[in-house]
Amino acid sequence: MPYICPICQNPLMQHQPSQGYYCSNKHHFDRAAEGYLNLLPVQHKKSKEPGDSRAMMRARRHFLETGFYQPLSESIATLLDANLSVESSKQILDMGCGEGYYSRQIENLCQNSKHFALHGIDIAKNAIFAAAKKQPNAHFIVASNKRMPYKNAFFDCLLRIYAPSNDDEIIRLLKEDGLLLIVTPGPRHLWQLKEFIYKKVNEHDINISLPKQFEQIETQRIQFNIKPDQENRMALLQMTPFAWRAKAETKNQIQRAQGLEIETDFILTLARKQHSVASHSE
Ligand SMILES: C[S@@+](CC[C@H](N)C(=O)[O-])C[C@H]1O[C@@H](n2cnc3c(N)ncnc32)[C@H](O)[C@@H]1O
Ligand SMILES: [Zn+2]
Repeated sequence: MPYICPICQNPLMQHQPSQGYYCSNKHHFDRAAEGYLNLLPVQHKKSKEPGDSRAMMRARRHFLETGFYQPLSESIATLLDANLSVESSKQILDMGCGEGYYSRQIENLCQNSKHFALHGIDIAKNAIFAAAKKQPNAHFIVASNKRMPYKNAFFDCLLRIYAPSNDDEIIRLLKEDGLLLIVTPGPRHLWQLKEFIYKKVNEHDINISLPKQFEQIETQRIQFNIKPDQENRMALLQMTPFAWRAKAETKNQIQRAQGLEIETDFILTLARKQHSVASHSE
């Protein structure tokens, strides 16, 4: 079992396959009909519906499923195939997985996916509900990336694609030699969209700070242009952290612009967890 109790941190056990989970202190967690587990106790919630809203989740799903970011999915899949040996099965966790698009892409695109056990965590229940429904063989939970209810050193690989995370938790959950793949926006990401919104567009800073104990092993920059239609432009805008700055008039301009072509720019950073000092002396 990969999970620990979010209240007392003891291991979670399952009553029976397809049923709820419990710990030795009798904290109990139901398994939803869609197969996901809600491990976010009310006392850890800062709002009623934390994370992305249903509307944001739907906009992202519509945009991503149209295939606009396919080259990014392919690069992620290639990196995983090349860097995860398949002598044994690999536990992979997508942190802040949203509605599970990249998890599905990994299953579809990775040559080695039959050796992968895919897990996803997100604080938004509506997103996990949608993810679990679409990918019943993956393991989804509602919980925060800041406090992830998994056992120490359970994972071979952690993914962080446009989502917040916590360094101490990343170090705790990864096995030694485990991989961390981070996807962040590159300097020119969505440049033409930003030109509608900001008087002066500034390039993103691309310096990634890795958790201590991690060594960067590869970095890739992927750039390509997309030409979304009016509906997908609005969906894309809703996915961005700057959407709230756009006035109704600006949104109209974005929607009406003829043949708008938008640059995308992604930085993929792959890092490996180093052996801790303690294990060297063993
Ligand atoms: C920009 S979206 C990215 C989703 C997905 N990785 C993708 O690229 O399609 C950020 C996601 O992080 C989730 N999120 C925000 N704060 C979180 C937290 N503290 N713990 C877990 N997930 C969180 C949101 O609910 C949202 O689904
Ligand atoms: Zn407990």
